[in-house]
Amino acid sequence: RGSGRFFIGGNWKCNGTIDSVTQLVKDLNAGSVPSTVEIVVSPTFVHLDMVKRTLRAPFQVAAQDCWVSKGGAFTGEVSAEMLHDFGIPWVILGHSERRSLCREDDELVGMKCEYALSQGLKVIACIGETLEQRESGHMWDVIDAQLQAIANHTTIGNWTNMVVAYEPVWAIGTGVVATPEQAQEVHAHVRAWVAKNVNPQVADTLRILYGGSVNDQNCETLANLEDVDGFLVGGASLKGPSFIKICNSEH
Ligand code: G3P
Repeated sequence: RGSGRFFIGGNWKCNGTIDSVTQLVKDLNAGSVPSTVEIVVSPTFVHLDMVKRTLRAPFQVAAQDCWVSKGGAFTGEVSAEMLHDFGIPWVILGHSERRSLCREDDELVGMKCEYALSQGLKVIACIGETLEQRESGHMWDVIDAQLQAIANHTTIGNWTNMVVAYEPVWAIGTGVVATPEQAQEVHAHVRAWVAKNVNPQVADTLRILYGGSVNDQNCETLANLEDVDGFLVGGASLKGPSFIKICNSEH
C-alpha cells in the first residue's frame, strides 16, 4: 500500500439540481468521517461554487475536467488557472467517459495533467481498460500507455500532487465491481510500473484509487487490499449516507 493518506473521491458526473445538491451537501456536513482520510467531491461546473461555499472541512472539491492550456478563445471550456484562482484544489482528468465520449486520447490527457499541475492544481488521473481490451489480452498495454503518457508530461516532483484512479470501464456504472483479485492485480502492476518508470519513492507514496461500482457494501473488502489506497466513487457518491459509509471503509 502507498504510504499516503487513504483517499475517497466522489465523482458526481453530470448529475444534480439545486435541491439535490443542497441536500447532498447537508448530508455530507452531517456525516462523521475519520480525520485520517482525504475526501474530495466533484460536482459539475455549475454547482462547484455553491458546493465550495457550503461544504465544510474536511471535504474538499474537485472539478471534473479542465482545458489543456491557458484560457482564451475556447468556447465552452474552463481553464486550470480559473479553477486555481477560484480556490478549487483538485481536478479529475482522463476519466473514461471523457476518453470515450469526448475522444480524449492518452496524449491529450498527459498534456492536461501537465498544464493543470503547472497551475497549482492537484490531479486525479484516471486510467482503465475496456472489457474488449481486457478480454483480447491488451489490458496491460493499454494501462501502460495511459501511464506513460502521463509520465511523459510530468516531473517526479509533480507526482506528489497526483493520485491515480484505476477504473476498469466495464465496472463503471454497471454494478459489476472488479473482484478483489482483479483490483489488487492491476493496482500492484500500476505501483510497480511507477516504481520502475518514474521513481521508487513516488511509487511508495502514490495513492492508487479503485473506481467502478464501489458501494457501501463492497467498499470494506476492497479497502483492505494491499494496493488499494482509496476509491473514486460515482453513483454511490450521490447518496450522502452511502458515501459517508464509504469514507469510513478503511480499518
Ligand atoms: O469516476 C467514478 C466512476 O466512473 C465510477 O462510477 O457509478 O460505477 O461508481 P460508478
